[in-house]
Amino acid sequence: MTYFERARQKAKALIESGSATVLAIETSCDETAAAVVRNGREVLSNVVYTQIPLHRRFGGVVPELASRNHVDQIGVVVEQALEDAGRTLDTVDAIAVTCGPGLVGALLVGVSYAKGLALSHDLPLIGTNHILGHIAANYLTFSDLEPPFSCLIASGGHSHIVRVAAYDRCELIGCTRDDAAGEAFDKVARVLGLPYPGGPELEKLAKDGDPKAIRFHSAFNEGDGFDMSFSGLKTAVINTLHTAEQKGEAVSRADVAASFQYAVNSILSDKAVRAADDTLALAGGVSANRNLRDMLQRKCEKKGVRFCCPDFKYCTDNAAMIGSAGFYLLMNGCLSDLDLNATPYLPIC
Ligand code: KG4
Ligand code: ZN
Repeated sequence: MTYFERARQKAKALIESGSATVLAIETSCDETAAAVVRNGREVLSNVVYTQIPLHRRFGGVVPELASRNHVDQIGVVVEQALEDAGRTLDTVDAIAVTCGPGLVGALLVGVSYAKGLALSHDLPLIGTNHILGHIAANYLTFSDLEPPFSCLIASGGHSHIVRVAAYDRCELIGCTRDDAAGEAFDKVARVLGLPYPGGPELEKLAKDGDPKAIRFHSAFNEGDGFDMSFSGLKTAVINTLHTAEQKGEAVSRADVAASFQYAVNSILSDKAVRAADDTLALAGGVSANRNLRDMLQRKCEKKGVRFCCPDFKYCTDNAAMIGSAGFYLLMNGCLSDLDLNATPYLPIC
């Protein structure tokens, strides 16, 4: 019997039992992460090694450094996740690994490592979409949340509004035409002289500013479509700062940060709440932004829509969310063979 035939047999037994403990691995960008998750909802361990200090001096992620650092860390991180969960490779049932979207070199480290473990221990392998993982972060926080529901995904690489039709299927409602929301936060933070990653730093600075001080608006977002655009707002910030500098006028960086944050979050929340009918979930790194969470909560309450957002520890990249998404893929029979590859532009829908 080949590896895949053995894995398929094991997966069939797991599907029949409706239960599985999944070892999950995530290396799509600048976090090396591993977790053990039982039945898609119960996190037995969650280890995240962040490379942020390594990339900070370059002002952004350096892909080659990220890949090399994943190679250095992955063994330790996986071992730690198994130890924290009180498991070994003989007492987990399957391996889920992020196979895209993300940085190709970084993804390849996780995918290759997971394939090695799957083959050597005859474990079913589940290539998992990183964005499906971000959505699944909500399943870890809300034990009763089940598809269908609407979801706003706002991360460093993605800004999507989707209908989560099933655990393994999304329908696209709208997406950004240019920068992702997190990317816009990072770029504006950089212009304001804040370190990488800019989103959380900009949020801190915005606390001391007036969100109504400067009106950053972009005509594109004012229509009633669901697509978004953030690069015009970024340019508006740069123009405001340059104009003030040329005129020798002082401009409050905190006001700029607060006004920009207000503009981005207003666009995201207006469109997402308009797209939602009964339940709206928030996902992706920008879901850690308290101003966005509060704005969505208020607007959802007003419309009578249930609002869900992940616990802070599951907002930015982690493997527990991959373990949850991977479990549901496994239960739907979505198995990968050893030809699983990294797909940098893997689509979500
Ligand atoms: O999901 P994530 O960890 O990685 C990707 O899949 O891209 O998202 C990272 C992004 C970065 O752009 C970061 O600046 C942004 O999420 N982010 C935030 C906050 N925390 C992280 N943006 C705004 N406010 C935050 N508190
Ligand atoms: Zn992410």
